[in-house]
Amino acid sequence: MAGRGGGGPNRPNGAAAANKICQFKLVLLGESAVGKSSLVLRFVKGQFHEFQESTIGAAFLTQTVCLDDTTVKFEIWDTAGQERYHSLAPMYYRGAQAAIVVYDITNTDTFDRAKNWVKELQRQASPNIVIALAGNKADIANKRAVEFQEAQAYADDNSLLFMETSAKTAMNSHIPKLPKSEPQGTAGQGGRTRTGVDLEQTNPQGSSSSRCCGGN
Ligand code: GTP
Ligand code: MG
Repeated sequence: MAGRGGGGPNRPNGAAAANKICQFKLVLLGESAVGKSSLVLRFVKGQFHEFQESTIGAAFLTQTVCLDDTTVKFEIWDTAGQERYHSLAPMYYRGAQAAIVVYDITNTDTFDRAKNWVKELQRQASPNIVIALAGNKADIANKRAVEFQEAQAYADDNSLLFMETSAKTAMNSHIPKLPKSEPQGTAGQGGRTRTGVDLEQTNPQGSSSSRCCGGN
């Protein structure tokens, strides 16, 4: 697994000592080549690679943003979409507060695969998990195979958040509304309170967190 290390929240000496710290474990799931790693790269580094390598096993990245007096640390598991890694997935979604299930709007098979991931999460992940469905590659809507309305209706029927995204153009490449956990990452009883963390507003290039909170 590619990794940048786990461990507790970064707290540089003296910085933000009075801050509340919220931790979110976030997992990305979906067929290979739908753009999971590209979305994470966009969110964490503000970059896009035309030739993004297929993930092996999973990749772990973190991103920290400051919202007023709260430091929000995202612990992101970017899983590998190739079928041979499927059996590893529960390790990554177990205990996750949020999952983003990604499909490619130009490929109906990936939408079917996304629905299977949603079913698996609903059966086996934490009951409080917030699931978002992301129809990626919206920049090539001229090759669209999955209609927006169809995906929206499916998301509504299954109580999912839904958005179309583009890692390439950065469209909707913020993290959608998430439950607010207790400080230090202990999910509260009311874990479904949706505060919303719009990272396009708080951290448009994925770099301001480093200045503000000590980064990752
Ligand atoms: P696995 O790691 O194999 O599971 O794939 P993945 O879901 O992580 O896909 P990845 O991010 O590696 O992207 C696959 C290909 O799609 C790459 O060539 C990306 O450049 C391209 N891609 C990703 N996101 C977008 C997007 O929003 N628009 C377009 N046009 N291409 C994209
Ligand atoms: Mg990948």
